[in-house]
Amino acid sequence: MFRWDKPLTWVAALITLALTGVLIAGEVYPPYRRYQLEFRRLVEERFGPERAAATPIGVQQVWLPESDRVDRCTTCHLGMTWQGLEDAPQPFATHPVEILGPHPLERFGCTWCHGGQGPATELPDAHGWVEHWEEPLLDSQLAAAYGVDDRAAFLELRCNTCHRYDRETAGAPYVNRAKGIVERKGCRACHVINERGGSIGPDLTRAGDKSPEQYDYSRLTSLPSLLEWHAGHLQSPKSFSPESVMPDFGFSREDALSLTLLLLSWGETDVPADLRPGAILRDVPTAEEAERERMMREGPGRFFVEKTCFICHDVSSLGIESATKIGPDLALAVEDAPRRFGRTLDDFMMNPSGTMSVVLSKQIPLTPEERREAVRLLKIAHERYLEQQSQRQSEQNAERQAATASGAGPAAANEEEASP
Ligand code: HEC
Ligand code: HEC
Ligand code: HEC
Ligand code: HEC
Ligand code: HEC
Repeated sequence: MFRWDKPLTWVAALITLALTGVLIAGEVYPPYRRYQLEFRRLVEERFGPERAAATPIGVQQVWLPESDRVDRCTTCHLGMTWQGLEDAPQPFATHPVEILGPHPLERFGCTWCHGGQGPATELPDAHGWVEHWEEPLLDSQLAAAYGVDDRAAFLELRCNTCHRYDRETAGAPYVNRAKGIVERKGCRACHVINERGGSIGPDLTRAGDKSPEQYDYSRLTSLPSLLEWHAGHLQSPKSFSPESVMPDFGFSREDALSLTLLLLSWGETDVPADLRPGAILRDVPTAEEAERERMMREGPGRFFVEKTCFICHDVSSLGIESATKIGPDLALAVEDAPRRFGRTLDDFMMNPSGTMSVVLSKQIPLTPEERREAVRLLKIAHERYLEQQSQRQSEQNAERQAATASGAGPAAANEEEASP
C-alpha cells in the first residue's frame, strides 16, 4: 500500500510530523506562556528574583459556580491585584482598585463587567473578537467602531445590569446622568419603566432585550447599530417615527448616548442573587416623586396628560409639569388668552389660531365636547392658581409679621456681625 519511493508520500509524512510537533509544542509551550514568562521578567526587574519565582505558571482561573462562569483572564492579566504595577504595560497592570475594592475578583471574576470569553486562554478568543460571540470585550476597539471616545462608557452598561435600582452608582457617570434625565424630563408620563408609568409610549422596562431586527435603520447615515438608532431617535423622535408624539427634548449627543446606555442595560438578567447589590430589587420612588407621578396620571389635570397637551404645557396649579415648556403655563390661560389673542378662552379653544390651530387640527384632534371639557378644567385650574397665590401671600405676610414681632431676624444678624 505505502510506496516510500513516491515523493507525495514523503510530503504527506513530513506534514504529519510537523503538525504533531506543533501540537506537542502547544501543550508544553501554550501561547499564553509567553505572557507569563514576560511577567516573571517584569517582576524580577521590579521586585527581585524571590517574588519572581513565585509568579504563577499554567492556566489561572476564577470559577463562579453560581454564575456558571469560568474566567481565565488572569492567565495573562497577572498583575491585577499587585501593588506597584500600576504603570506596567498590559496585560500586566494593576487593576484600578476603586473597582476591585467593592467587587473582589475571586467573587466577581471579570466578564460580568468586561464581557469577553471567560474560558479562552488565547487572543483573540478571550477578547471575543470572533464571529458569533455575542459579548465582545467592551474595549477601545469596540468603542471606536461605535464612534464613542470614552471606552469606559460601555462598561457602565454592564455596571447597570447589577446596579439598576441604584439612584446613583459611584464610577458610572453616564448612567447616573441618564437616570437624572429620566426623572427630570418625566419619561414615565408616557412610558412604563420598572413597572411604573404611563402607556402613551411603549414599555421600556426591557428595552435592552429588543432584538436589533425590530428597528428600521433606513434613516441612519452612520453605523446601523442599536446604539445609533436609540441615540438618533432620542435626539429627534420624529425623524425615526414621523407620527411620534414623543417630544424632541433638545438632547445633546452626550445626553442621548447616556440615555442609550441606560436603555440598553434594561433587560432580563441572569446575574445570580449573590452578586446583586442591595436587598430591594425594584425602583422605590421618593414620596415627592410618587406624588408628582400620581398627580400626572390620576390628579384633576390628567386630561392634559391623556390628551398629551403636557408635552408642551405646564398646568402648574393642577400639578402637571411639561418637560419641554414649549407653550405657556395653562394655569393662566383664562386671563392670558384674552390678552394674547383678544378673545375669551372659550372662543379661542373653539377657533384656535397660531400654533394651537395646527396642534388641534393635526396632532391632537379634539371633539367639541372635549374642547369644552378643556375649557372647564382650565377655569378650575385658574381658580386653583388664584387660591394658591393668595395662600402663598398670606403665608409670607404671616412670616414677615412674626419676624418683626420677635425682632429675631435683624437682631440675630447684628449679633453675628459683632462676634469675631
Ligand atoms: C492570552 C492572553 C490574554 C487573555 C487570556 C486575556 N487578555 Fe486581555 N489583554 C491581553 C493583552 C496582551 C492586552 C494588551 C494588548 C491589547 O489591548 O490587545 C490585553 C488588554 C486587555 C484590556 C484593555 C483593552 C483595551 O483596549 O481596552 C482589557 C479590558 C482586557 N484585556 C480584558 C480581558 C478580559 C476580561 C479577559 C478574559 C475574558 C482577557 N482580557 C483575557 C492578553 C490577554
Ligand atoms: C466591577 C466591574 C469590573 C470587574 C469585576 C473587573 N473590571 Fe476591569 N475594569 C473595570 C473598569 C470600570 C475599568 C476602568 C476602565 C477605564 O477607566 O478605562 C477597568 C479596567 C481594566 C483594565 C485596564 C484597561 C486599560 O487599558 O486601562 C483591564 C486590563 C481590566 N480591567 C481587566 C480586568 C480583568 C482581567 C478582570 C478580572 C480579573 C477585571 N478587569 C475585573 C471594571 C471591572
Ligand atoms: C455582577 C454584578 C455587578 C456588576 C457588573 C457591578 N457591580 Fe458594583 N456592586 C455589586 C455588588 C453585589 C455590590 C455590593 C458589594 C457587597 O455586596 O459587598 C457592589 C458594590 C459597588 C459599589 C460600592 C458601593 C455600593 O453601592 O455598595 C460601587 C461604587 C460599585 N459597585 C460600582 C460599580 C461600577 C462602577 C460597576 C461597573 C464598572 C459595577 N459596580 C459593576 C455588583 C455588581
Ligand atoms: C409625550 C409622551 C412621551 C414622552 C414624555 C416620552 N416618550 Fe418616548 N416614546 C413615546 C412614543 C409615543 C413612542 C413610540 C413612537 C416612537 O418611536 O417615537 C416613544 C418611543 C420611545 C422609545 C423607542 C422604544 C422602542 O423600542 O421602539 C424610546 C427608547 C423612548 N421613547 C424613550 C424615552 C425617554 C428616555 C423619554 C424621556 C427622556 C421619553 N421617551 C419620553 C412617547 C413619549
Ligand atoms: C406642540 C406643542 C403644543 C401642544 C401639544 C399643545 N399646545 Fe397649546 N399652545 C402651544 C403654544 C406654543 C402656545 C402659545 C401660543 C402660540 O404660540 O400660538 C399654545 C397656546 C395654548 C393656549 C392659549 C394659552 C394662553 O395662555 O394664551 C391654550 C388654551 C392651549 N394652548 C391649550 C392647549 C390644549 C388644551 C392642548 C392639548 C389638547 C394643547 N394646548 C397642546 C403649543 C402646544
